[in-house]
Amino acid sequence: MRFGVIGTGRITRRLVADMQSTDNVEVTAIGSRSLDRAKWCADQYGVASAVEGYQSLLERDDVEAVYISLPPSLHAHWSIAAAAAGKHILCEKPLAISTRQAIEIAEACDRHHVRLLDATAWLHHERTDTFAAWIADGRLGKIGHISAAVSFYQPFQSNDHRLDLELGGGCILDLGWYTCGLARFVTGRNPRAVWADAVWRQGVPQRLSAILWFDDDVTATVSCGYDTATRKWFEVAGSTASLICDDFTRPWADRPARCWIHDASGKVESHKFEGSQERRMIARLASDVPLGAYLTQALDTQRILEAIDHSLESKQRVELG
Ligand SMILES: NC(=O)c1ccc[n+]([C@@H]2O[C@H](COP(=O)([O-])OP(=O)(O)OC[C@H]3O[C@@H](n4cnc5c(N)ncnc54)[C@H](OP(=O)(O)O)[C@@H]3O)[C@@H](O)[C@H]2O)c1
Repeated sequence: MRFGVIGTGRITRRLVADMQSTDNVEVTAIGSRSLDRAKWCADQYGVASAVEGYQSLLERDDVEAVYISLPPSLHAHWSIAAAAAGKHILCEKPLAISTRQAIEIAEACDRHHVRLLDATAWLHHERTDTFAAWIADGRLGKIGHISAAVSFYQPFQSNDHRLDLELGGGCILDLGWYTCGLARFVTGRNPRAVWADAVWRQGVPQRLSAILWFDDDVTATVSCGYDTATRKWFEVAGSTASLICDDFTRPWADRPARCWIHDASGKVESHKFEGSQERRMIARLASDVPLGAYLTQALDTQRILEAIDHSLESKQRVELG
């Protein structure tokens, strides 16, 4: 699959390297609003063509799929344009800034027969398959509570899209995507209700705390934000054991992915996993394996985040429809 890249931001460099090192995948062009930046990135990343303007990139015959790494509010417009141009899509998380937009993206991909994946790479790690198997096999007993926290400490530059609500900034879409997505992945469904509170700074939510209530007396607490040191952990607490992971969004640099099962007697089992979640994600998009479960996960996550927004606005517990 020959990819064109839309956007030249921070995450692009890493994903381009992952695409270039995935079997049967090639990066043929990179598009920017500025030709200079496109050329600079193409030189840096070893990509053959630099293109001015995203639409021009979509019109190229040597581009079969696009990787969209723009600020969140632009994901829907460019994903729908890519689908109309017949290009498969790997779109950065969050898929969109609203459930309505996310559904519109999915409908456009369906209409134009192109494949769609949001770039939530942790879902594609082999370790994640093991989590799912342990939970389904009852290894933890009955699941009661899920906790998840994702944060990093960052005094952003004033023009950062994460500080711009219009561009989909703030920690809810950016990092709540991981914590709420984790809760949805573990339970396999959406919560019945949510309640949320946030610390706002510079016009965007900087830190979020939320409670999620699921059927069958399962609860989750999630925390995320930009004002505490890097965290990317979860605990899934069951009636007989807990599953704990401190690097679920991306393994720590130069260390294998890891997790632990703690039982009621204090016995701890450590597990380590190799392999690149990003390459596995890219390879899945480039293959013909069904992707519907990832789309359902993304749409459900989008619904949870929207309910969290409503809870912040209303200062009330919000029921999901
Ligand atoms: N999966 C992950 O681990 C991960 C990690 C970080 C970020 N992300 C996601 O990736 C996306 C991009 O994040 P990033 O941190 O890479 O962003 P970034 O560094 O700000 O780059 C975004 C790029 O979008 C383009 N752009 C187009 N219109 C823009 C506008 N109005 N304002 C700013 N940029 C604009 C720019 O490229 P040109 O000007 O060259 O066209 C810019 O370089 C976000 O959705 C974010 O949540 C994912």
